[in-house]
Amino acid sequence: MVPAAGRGERLGPGAPKALRELGGAPLLVHAVRALARSRAVGLVVVAAPPDGVAEVVGLLDSHGLDGKDVRVVAGGATRQESVRLGLAAIGEQVEIVLVHDAARPLVPVEVVDAVAAAVRAGAQAVVPAVPLADTVKRVGPAPAGGPEPVLDTPDRATLRAVQTPQGFRRSLLAEVHARALAEQEAGLAPAVTDDAGLVEHYGGQVVVVPGHEEAFKVTRPLDLVLAEAVLARRRA
Ligand code: CTP
Ligand code: MG
Repeated sequence: MVPAAGRGERLGPGAPKALRELGGAPLLVHAVRALARSRAVGLVVVAAPPDGVAEVVGLLDSHGLDGKDVRVVAGGATRQESVRLGLAAIGEQVEIVLVHDAARPLVPVEVVDAVAAAVRAGAQAVVPAVPLADTVKRVGPAPAGGPEPVLDTPDRATLRAVQTPQGFRRSLLAEVHARALAEQEAGLAPAVTDDAGLVEHYGGQVVVVPGHEEAFKVTRPLDLVLAEAVLARRRA
């Protein structure tokens, strides 16, 4: 499933991020094609911007998707809600679900295949990840008018930057989303920014497979410049 309902505020003013163009096609179309290229993928469910469902259906129709079954649902106000709404459109006979950001248009098919294969091989939850290039520091709150103090520096060798698609047994992913919704309604929203984080929050085991530098997320304007360059290099 492809959460694509975000506004893309960090990318700046313009259309919702998933509909912004990269090399002549919307980011979302690239992301769906990248998933559809994998033989492991039979159905793609897109969570579209709530006011853009018809537009997304039209876009996916006009870009042709290798005969895969594609469904479009209206997404929600948060990524978590969008994933939950997308999951509701996937039948219980489906055993494995990959959740892939529309904002990662250039993920190589090898990454999609590796995530699906790891779930097939028995993992409950799988994330593709890459080592960090930068040193990371934990900081505390800045005193009035002053700079943030550094608290400590985690050992970089033990850190990974996590990408998508993240893969799950469908039943587990549906369960952790339902539990998170119940907690939210009780005013106890778990502070989690990805689907694997929900599995961790409820005590499940998540494992890592190698990600890829081209699976980066288009977040800020510079990322779109890089994505154009990667696409141009692929097409050369
Ligand atoms: N997403 C979604 N529904 C939301 C928010 C995000 O489906 N309510 C999706 C985005 O469309 C994107 C993915 O989650 O494909 C990753 O989120 P992010 O990169 O944060 O995208 P945006 O939320 O659109 O960007 P920003 O945070 O800069 O507004
Ligand atoms: Mg966001």
